[in-house]
Amino acid sequence: MKKILWDKSFSVGVEVLDQQHKQIVEIINRLIDEPKEGFGPDEVARILDDLAKFVHYHFQTEEQLLADHGYEDLRTQQAEHKEFRVELADLCMGSMRNHTIVPINALLYLKEWWVDHILVKDMKYRPFLMNRIGR
Ligand SMILES: [Fe+2]
Repeated sequence: MKKILWDKSFSVGVEVLDQQHKQIVEIINRLIDEPKEGFGPDEVARILDDLAKFVHYHFQTEEQLLADHGYEDLRTQQAEHKEFRVELADLCMGSMRNHTIVPINALLYLKEWWVDHILVKDMKYRPFLMNRIGR
């Protein structure tokens, strides 16, 4: 599977969110780029755990920023974020049980969800936040 290639079309115009998005993409790319011999026994669980923690932190930052500036469609963002948290929790529990690889359909879900979320859903707040706090 091809890794996610970051380019400027991914920028939502706010440095802190771009940096966090980049870090999430980097963690997902680590999973996509799985070693030929496979990951070590606890490695998948550890990477997914990193992802879960960081995603949680990122959603908090993003939602807080949108709330602080009175973004009108905050609820849609929150609902999307919640959906992902549930899926990710399932995924973490599933792979912690067998400890070896991330199944291809789960990897695909991670990749597609984030590319779509950043390029489509997050892009909707770009002009709004750019107006207020954009760099
Ligand atoms: Fe978001």
